[in-house]
Amino acid sequence: MRFLTKTTKDIEADTAICFTFEDTSNNGDLFNYLNEKSNNQLYKQIHDYKTISGKFCEIFKYSIDETIKVYIVGLGKRSDLTRKKLSIATSSVARKLKHDSKNKTLAVELVENINENNQVEYNFSKAQSANIVLTALRIGLYEYDKYLTNKKDEIETIELVENELNSEIEKEAEIGAYTSYAMKFAKDLVNEPAQIATPNYIAQIAAKIAKEHKLEAKILNKNQIKDLGMNAFLAVGQGSVNEPKFIHLTYKPKTTPRKKIALIGKGITFDAGGMNIKPATSMLTMKDDMTGCASVLGIIQAISKLNSDIELHVISALCENMTSGSAYKQGDVLTAKNGKTIEVDNTDAEGRITLADALCYADTLDVDEVIDIATLTGAVIVSLGNNITGVMGNNQAQIDKFINCSKLSCENTWQMPILDELKNNLKSEIADFKNTGGRNAGTSTAAWFLSNFTKSNSWLHLDIAGTAYLDKSNQETLSGPTGVMIRTLINYLIS
Ligand code: BES
Ligand code: MN
Ligand code: ZN
Repeated sequence: MRFLTKTTKDIEADTAICFTFEDTSNNGDLFNYLNEKSNNQLYKQIHDYKTISGKFCEIFKYSIDETIKVYIVGLGKRSDLTRKKLSIATSSVARKLKHDSKNKTLAVELVENINENNQVEYNFSKAQSANIVLTALRIGLYEYDKYLTNKKDEIETIELVENELNSEIEKEAEIGAYTSYAMKFAKDLVNEPAQIATPNYIAQIAAKIAKEHKLEAKILNKNQIKDLGMNAFLAVGQGSVNEPKFIHLTYKPKTTPRKKIALIGKGITFDAGGMNIKPATSMLTMKDDMTGCASVLGIIQAISKLNSDIELHVISALCENMTSGSAYKQGDVLTAKNGKTIEVDNTDAEGRITLADALCYADTLDVDEVIDIATLTGAVIVSLGNNITGVMGNNQAQIDKFINCSKLSCENTWQMPILDELKNNLKSEIADFKNTGGRNAGTSTAAWFLSNFTKSNSWLHLDIAGTAYLDKSNQETLSGPTGVMIRTLINYLIS
């Protein structure tokens, strides 16, 4: 898919998206241009015939001389418009038009909202809308047809239309293009069946990315993992015929980095639960348990393409959590890289065990911040549902900055607490901790467990178990992988 910025005189689109409001009229360049082309019909449809009222996500289609199909989408009341609502409306119209005959080139207009209300989510410039709209279009147009005999038609080009183009618009469009590519990359990798996407397969993809982007790469096999003392991680993978891999890619800017950040993604390529085997229905989508890994591999490509001034380390401990004669068992005691011991209370709480060693590894890198992203607990779904990511950490300023970035990036987050009292849940008689402790406060308890394996005082933890994968489509995103937190993380890293 190509992305271009254009003024109205140069557009080549066969399909266009324009916005309309309930309470004000649109005077975007693309709308005005198409309205003229339609002999004022677009304006009349809205204002005289009231074919569309402008309600949020209402869609009206109008063909001009069979040459261009115009989709007008409502954004609701102007003062209520948030970045997230712009993203949802754009994505939902993209989903509507993608199979509506053979569209090849899609034009979309930019829109701004300058509000008295000074909350970030209500305020955005035309340039910022370029980032939002481009990303949202690609979310809406996304489909995974690798294993379908009949491939779907695809939009080939997206034109962002604005008559007063400037460098800020170009810059934001570029960020949107690489962000949306990172999301597509991650979704494709999560969609890849676990029979293909083994630790070794993903390690090879990581090596390929490193080569393409000239990144430093460390790809460790089982013996090398053992040599580094990551025995807790190794235990989780020991029940599988697919051997574990540990990956570490580094992006370094050309000049002295403004900041060094380690980004860890949970990399369980299939989570059967181990000896605490999952019920069949819970296991159904567990190929998605490497979403964290897929996300960080997408993000480092965007950071490299954007020539970011930060140093970024992406890390993943990749293995499969299976049940077999060699699988780790309830009651086993594991020793992590930092020497702390873990009594296995439940083999299905495997993510925190692999992350423990990955966090210890990150401590050896001399970075300013450590962030992990993980499909960690079913409990976060009970607490926050499928549209809000749980955010935890040990540095409130970092958490605040991240949550603010999520608002700028059209993503929902909510902070959950990590309190020291939680340690009582994980008391073990024979080891430093158990890995689980009952159903209560499951998300926070898991985070408290992780906090014991990092020395960083800027550690942030994202629990995406509820948001990484949707069983049912919502207005913005098709069912399946969502690419959640990629937008926010990229904006966080570059700001
Ligand atoms: N990968 C799962 C968490 C998960 C659940 C992700 C649902 C996506 C959807 C994780 O490894 C897990 O199994 N967690 C257990 C922990 C429990 C045993 C304390 C859970 O949440 O049930
Ligand atoms: Mn599990
Ligand atoms: Zn898991």
